[in-house]
Amino acid sequence: MIQIGIVGGTGYTGVELLRLLAQHPKVQIRTITSRQESGNRVSNIFPNLRTHAALSALSFCAPEDAPLAECDVVFFATPHGVAMKETPKLVESGVKIIDLAADFRLRDPAQFEEWYKMPHACPELLAESVYGLPELARDEIAQARIVGNPGCYPTAVQLGFFPLLKAGVVDVSMLIADCKSGVSGAGRKGELSLIHPEISDNFSAYGVGGHRHHPEIEQGLSAMAGKAVGLTFTPHLVPMIRGIFATLYAKLTDDRADVQAIFENCYAKEPFVDVLPEGRLPETRSVRASNTIRLSVMRRGAVVTVLVVEDNLVKGAAGQAVQNMNLMFGFEETTGLTALPIVP
Ligand SMILES: NC(=O)c1ccc[n+]([C@@H]2O[C@H](COP(=O)([O-])OP(=O)(O)OC[C@H]3O[C@@H](n4cnc5c(N)ncnc54)[C@H](OP(=O)(O)O)[C@@H]3O)[C@@H](O)[C@H]2O)c1
Repeated sequence: MIQIGIVGGTGYTGVELLRLLAQHPKVQIRTITSRQESGNRVSNIFPNLRTHAALSALSFCAPEDAPLAECDVVFFATPHGVAMKETPKLVESGVKIIDLAADFRLRDPAQFEEWYKMPHACPELLAESVYGLPELARDEIAQARIVGNPGCYPTAVQLGFFPLLKAGVVDVSMLIADCKSGVSGAGRKGELSLIHPEISDNFSAYGVGGHRHHPEIEQGLSAMAGKAVGLTFTPHLVPMIRGIFATLYAKLTDDRADVQAIFENCYAKEPFVDVLPEGRLPETRSVRASNTIRLSVMRRGAVVTVLVVEDNLVKGAAGQAVQNMNLMFGFEETTGLTALPIVP
């Protein structure tokens, strides 16, 4: 059994980590933090966990009192800026780190500062950290001490474009990602724009002038293409709780490209990527509460369209973090992640 610490246990990705880790046979939750709920039982805040023997006995602890250095791995399910301050001393104590925020995603500390408005606290550790997209970096993740877990939109957009860029069959100077997210993507907080009357029966774009996931996606796609890509990324908020739907467009440079075969071959061995048969379309509820990303691809003339769905809290956050943990500790990659999606 490995010992787990979770910093930021009252948020949506925190409780999703608990739900997934509760089904994992090789882990034990050693400590979980909250500043607001310190001393309170986890199951008082999340009654869905009441019937799990170990989790129902667990209480939140203030971050400064949490025995994080005694853990084998610590997940940071916190806003950006928290993990990078704690990581140096934890790594020094032999603890592995998986950050669900953005502290270890952008390779360039200057770019991190530009987008997140704070200097990076440990650029030397940023340099050794690994971007945790298992389908692209399985071997590096297995060796990593620090993993920057990808953002929810970046996971969908990068896995959606990857087969096309790998095959070199599209014009990378104009890639378009038109994305929609459920409201849990914004976290568990009270904010006027997120309350029920504001988001229900409504559909809006946001971050059009520059969303923080833009440089992260661009970084990943440019690495795949081997040169700088041109990306248009427009996120939208839709009145559902979980789910991301990404519609991606690119112009084919190779007229003979069999896009269906390209996708099927690229992901044939991936346990969490499901390429639908030609003509079938994905929907967000088909992946709800699961670590699967499901996609379909089609072409009309020179334009290729890729439709991608994922659960933002699972493959877009906590599930991918557990997948990364499995790789880092030499467990079977799918351990604890095989539950099927919930329908309806
Ligand atoms: N929601 C998603 O779909 C999603 C997807 C991918 C990635 N992410 C990223 O994952 C991270 C967590 O997201 P979330 O949606 O779970 O957020 P959230 O619901 O807002 O929860 C944030 C958690 O962090 C704790 N926290 C806040 N400030 C802290 C600090 N300074 N020190 C220690 N703990 C602190 C909060 O508890 P206390 O205030 O009680 O300490 C809370 O438990 C974010 O960086 C987010 O961008 C989210």
